[in-house]
Amino acid sequence: MICLGIESTAHTIGIGVVDHDCKIMANLTKMIDGSKGGIHPREAANHHAENLAPLMHDAIAKAGVSYRDIGLVAFSQGPGLGPCLRTGATAARALSLSLGVPLIGVNHCVAHLEIGRKVTECTDPTLLYASGGNTQVIAYSGGRYRVFGETLDVGIGNMIDKFGRSVGLPFPSGPHLERMAREGKELVDLPYSVKGMDVAFSGILTAALQLQKQGKKLEDLCFSLQETCFAMLVEVTERAMAHVEKDEVLLGGGVVQNRRLQEMVRIMAEERGARMFVPPGSLCVDNGAMIAWTGIVMHQSGIKTDLGESGVRQRFRTDEVDLPWMR
Ligand code: ATP
Ligand code: FE2
Repeated sequence: MICLGIESTAHTIGIGVVDHDCKIMANLTKMIDGSKGGIHPREAANHHAENLAPLMHDAIAKAGVSYRDIGLVAFSQGPGLGPCLRTGATAARALSLSLGVPLIGVNHCVAHLEIGRKVTECTDPTLLYASGGNTQVIAYSGGRYRVFGETLDVGIGNMIDKFGRSVGLPFPSGPHLERMAREGKELVDLPYSVKGMDVAFSGILTAALQLQKQGKKLEDLCFSLQETCFAMLVEVTERAMAHVEKDEVLLGGGVVQNRRLQEMVRIMAEERGARMFVPPGSLCVDNGAMIAWTGIVMHQSGIKTDLGESGVRQRFRTDEVDLPWMR
């Protein structure tokens, strides 16, 4: 069984071609330029529409297969930006109809978890999912993947990118922030905002920008931003792990490529006798292969998405997904 997966929730259009053993035959992505500020949903959707067909042809060629070899079409059904999601869903429906193969709508957050579980071979992890638009701690409990904690305002990556844009770092700012943070020496005081199991980043951003105007060294601010925000993520992740009594922590989302974040999570895990798992970077960011793989997992459990229920779900919650393959 070969599945073609389409990812289009936000900045990135991605096409993955994956087989039933999770051999990743192709995984191509194209991202809209976000350097000029937040993304405009309609512009991003136009970007995805323009790039989708050529990217799909390239992915098929890269995989060394033909369209007739595709046995299943999966797409990101949500959560995400409506116009972006609809672009991917429309292409998925058209492809599934023209090939005469089943269609599967996939929850984007569940896909981050499923691809990580498969490629790192952890079994029942707590996922720290830290990306541009999302920041969530997710674990399997009572038959569903539950969100134990999440951001109350922006995703951590968006906060980092906003900070970077304001202080003149290139986009996306995460890797530049990480590099500058290594030169930082002074830990400046920033608001540590963990509320219950949730986190918030906009107050930290405001404080960091004020300190920058007051002349604090950029290296120190980058260092302090990382230390403060990552400590918040690690605290919530650890509490979720303790609550569900799990000894595996899986990382997902673009921000987890940060070495300092990985180090902090690893230390926390080791101190609890737990283990950390990090998928390769191309599978941490938004990509089509994770959608294709999750499509296969769902298909093998007998799930399919009829055309009538293939509408996009902008606020598709992680815990709405039934998980027969976990039973
Ligand atoms: P989603 O729709 O899941 O929110 P996204 O497209 O917004 O996804 P990803 O592709 O998962 O986000 O990740 C991009 C984000 O990761 C950007 O905000 C970028 O600045 C951040 N990032 C990338 N590398 C690093 C790093 N080394 N340190 C910190 N942040 C990083
Ligand atoms: Fe994502």
